[in-house]
Amino acid sequence: MTLARRKFDTLVIGAGGGGLRAALQLAQADAKVAVVSKVFPTRSHTVAAQGGINAALANVLPDNWHWHMYDTIKGSDYLGDQDAIEYMCRAASNLVVELEHAGVPFSRLENGNIYQRPFGGQSQDFGGKQAARTCAAADRTGHAILHTLYQQNIRAKTHFFDEYFAIDLIKDEEGVILGALVMSIETGEPLLIEAKTTLLATGGAGQLFRTNTNAHINTGDGLAMALRAGIPLQDMEFFQFHPTGIAGKGMLISEAARGEGGYLTNKNGERFMERYAPNAKDLASRDVVSRAIFIEVQEGRGCGPSGDYVNLNINHLGEEVLNKRLPAICDSIRTFLRVDPAKDPVPIYPTAHYTMGGIPTNRQGQVVVPIEHGEEPIPGLYAVGECACVSVHGANRLGGNSLLDIVVFGRAAGNDIIGYLREHRYHRPINESDVEQAMAHLTRWDRKGDGISVAGLRGELQAIMEKYCGVFRTEEILQQGLEKVLEIEQRLDDVVLYDHSKIFNTARIEAFELENLVDIALATVKSALSRQESRGAHSRVDYPERDDKHWLKHSLFYKQDRRMAYKPVRLKPLTVDTFPPKERVY
Ligand code: FUM
Repeated sequence: MTLARRKFDTLVIGAGGGGLRAALQLAQADAKVAVVSKVFPTRSHTVAAQGGINAALANVLPDNWHWHMYDTIKGSDYLGDQDAIEYMCRAASNLVVELEHAGVPFSRLENGNIYQRPFGGQSQDFGGKQAARTCAAADRTGHAILHTLYQQNIRAKTHFFDEYFAIDLIKDEEGVILGALVMSIETGEPLLIEAKTTLLATGGAGQLFRTNTNAHINTGDGLAMALRAGIPLQDMEFFQFHPTGIAGKGMLISEAARGEGGYLTNKNGERFMERYAPNAKDLASRDVVSRAIFIEVQEGRGCGPSGDYVNLNINHLGEEVLNKRLPAICDSIRTFLRVDPAKDPVPIYPTAHYTMGGIPTNRQGQVVVPIEHGEEPIPGLYAVGECACVSVHGANRLGGNSLLDIVVFGRAAGNDIIGYLREHRYHRPINESDVEQAMAHLTRWDRKGDGISVAGLRGELQAIMEKYCGVFRTEEILQQGLEKVLEIEQRLDDVVLYDHSKIFNTARIEAFELENLVDIALATVKSALSRQESRGAHSRVDYPERDDKHWLKHSLFYKQDRRMAYKPVRLKPLTVDTFPPKERVY
């Protein structure tokens, strides 16, 4: 097979908001940037973000970045790194205004300022009254941001490789990352992209779970590439279940529905969140609300013939508010449930939503690995967005902080790369044996004959993850889950693509994605089994309390020997005092 080669200053893998924000920073600084995306860029999963982006603009209610910082740390159940959180919350207002100037069509207040709505876990004055911090473009905020960033990149002359799938990173003997081997989905031809710097922005791994809010493309490809390159994944036990997915199907009904005044009820019509979170009620943080819904259903207070969901009520908001503020979710409710949200309650249930863990990075987006006394960056490798763990979300992300994360750290990584490129002006030579290794991987799935189908095994994996690594966990159930995922890993060898003569590249891509998902499933279950406490989204029935003495630390999972390691949480912010861990109540 002939191998085509291209050279760029920076290779960005993934065309969601994080990748595109970094690419824009670089292209505007005249770097030669390639963005590789397995879908057309504006179909990247950022397009599905609904409710908004957090910034303490104080357009609706009093606010400031320090309150936002406090809420984010509390939301993270004190596992977030406080320096990175301060950096993000301080940068938020400028970056939202920058998006506005770049063309994002935010919704407006009467006075022309950006509209902001309340979201879960937000407060004024360090835990006081509800804040309204989430800047919104109706309920299509991610769509608006992604299209704007794409258009700005086209203007800045970023080079796009649309519908190319990244196979593996290329690394030299000194551990420097020199680009990646990618494959054209249309032709199946490999392409070696040599780059002085490579940025992973491949998004999360929501497809680990059967019921999820994620696009089909969210198979954690960047996380698995990092694992194969010997990089550990951080905090993988923390997977966010969004409280309001369409029951039984999983599609997202934005937290904006509750931000605009919607509320949850059980089969008795009771507003049960008042029992679980007396102050914040329906706008408690997501882990709290998801657990409450789960318990209501488990204890027999669920709605419907099988008692397996609760109701979200938004009919009292009236047609005008629904059409103006929540048009997209009303469409989804009509399409997928055949329910009129202006008249009837909406059946909802928690659904897998967001990968809080990921590739460990510092605030500059550099991928970092542990060394004897601390950690050091991997030269030439960066990661941002949901595939990265910087860590601003810790054990539980606040709604509206993911769009913020991608623009803040996309820009930060772009800036750091500009500095790196100044000091590393030439491409390093590539060792052909490293390329051969990646090329060997390329043909792994060219298998026909009798065996297990990719879709069948993937379905089994998703069902296992949902059953054995869901909202509530125990040692016993996680151990069973680990054994089942290991079995699936064994059965990967029996996977075949097609029984007849022609293998389509899309089938080949699905096999690569399955391989990636299996690695990430292992990282997730192993990390969850190891953490013997409850914190944020990780709820261990057998260890119901948070245990700061033993577990106020980040976990690291290594693929090669399936080993766990740990590193400290950075409790010291940049300029203000630490928020010490305390009991977390809403
Ligand atoms: O509920 C939502 O609109 C989701 C927002 C987010 O995950 O940040």
